Amino acid sequence: MRVLVTGGAGFIGSHFVKRLVAQGDEVVVLDKLTYAGNPANLEGTGVELVVGDIADPETVKRAGSGCAAIVNFAAETHVDRSILGPKEFVHTDVLGTMTLLEWARSTRARYVQVSTDEVYGDLEAGGRAVETDPLRPSSPYSAAKAGGDLQVLAYVRTYGVAASITRGANTFGPNQYPEKLVPLFVTNALDGEPLPVYGDGKQVREWLHAEDHCAGVDLVLREGAPGEIYNIGGEDHENLEVTYRILELTGADASLIRHVEDRAGHDRRYAIDDTKLRNLGWKPAHSFGEGGLPETVEWYRGNRAWWEPIKSGEYRRYYEEQYAERLQA
Ligand code: NAD
Ligand code: DAU
Repeated sequence: MRVLVTGGAGFIGSHFVKRLVAQGDEVVVLDKLTYAGNPANLEGTGVELVVGDIADPETVKRAGSGCAAIVNFAAETHVDRSILGPKEFVHTDVLGTMTLLEWARSTRARYVQVSTDEVYGDLEAGGRAVETDPLRPSSPYSAAKAGGDLQVLAYVRTYGVAASITRGANTFGPNQYPEKLVPLFVTNALDGEPLPVYGDGKQVREWLHAEDHCAGVDLVLREGAPGEIYNIGGEDHENLEVTYRILELTGADASLIRHVEDRAGHDRRYAIDDTKLRNLGWKPAHSFGEGGLPETVEWYRGNRAWWEPIKSGEYRRYYEEQYAERLQA
């Protein structure tokens, strides 16, 4: 099948491209190459890369030519950046999604929207979110992703677009831009830099390996029903637990931990029920602390040439804005 993968030069999207190529699918990537997009993530795949914005209908039409399906990974994805400036998040995650849906509407292509467990909001009180739960996003990022999901459901109902939605948990693995918790803390620990833990560090996230996330999205692409939503879950761990495991795996000292000012509006706990996807045949292949995280740490240890150039320029400016005052306080 010829598949248009938007955001395919990013973290999870590039794992998905590699999976499809290994399966013999034909892939076209459409990616704007924002700070988070990196052509190096596609090295060796031989796929066609169209550089452009998913919110531009002409670009989408050109990239999508001949494709029977589209899987949308393209998004602004970092909660902290959305707090610093939400506008790009609405542009890409809402308007961009709508533009892709218009293309799927006109071509009758199959559509998969890669969304997030963050749209359910904080589950501090307990329980696990199921796909029919109401959306209660907390951050400008998750509000934009929820807006994208609602566009998808509206296009299914109004225009009959054959679209499904996946809602994945916190994803980790090789090639993740070092602004998110795991790659930031691993690379800082390897360099002897502080690990800025927001607040008390007792927040709970579900950890899902990128390859398991992609296996779930692929299953939904092929066997999911239009109009349906599928959660893709992981393993529950507190941030401090993750931090101590990273220290252990990198051999760094606990004195690097700094409890800093909390994230505004910080969700305390995410937890999803992924029974629906498991009933379709999905099962994760990677554990977090025992297999996935040690391998991920080894990847960052062995691939400084991938992340060291990133940690300069634009990244430095973002890092200063996000952390300088916090770390001094
Ligand atoms: P990422 O930030 O690593 O990559 C995003 C990619 O989208 C980049 O290559 C970027 O250049 C591209 N992009 C951004 N704006 C674009 C635009 N307007 N037009 C075309 N391309 C654009 O993101 P990721 O972590 O790989 O996340 C991929 C998807 O999975 C996102 O939709 C995200 O919301 C979702 N998701 C991520 C996680 C996670 O923990 N990382 C968990 C659940 C869901
Ligand atoms: O749950 C899925 C979501 O997971 C995805 O939709 C998002 O795209 C992805 O960024 C991720 O969102 P989070 O906000 O949960 O991930 P992040 O890695 O930014 O933070 C994970 C936890 O670690 C969160 O509780 C905040 C905390 N944290 C994060 C950073 C960057 C810190 O304590 N210190 C930090 O410096």
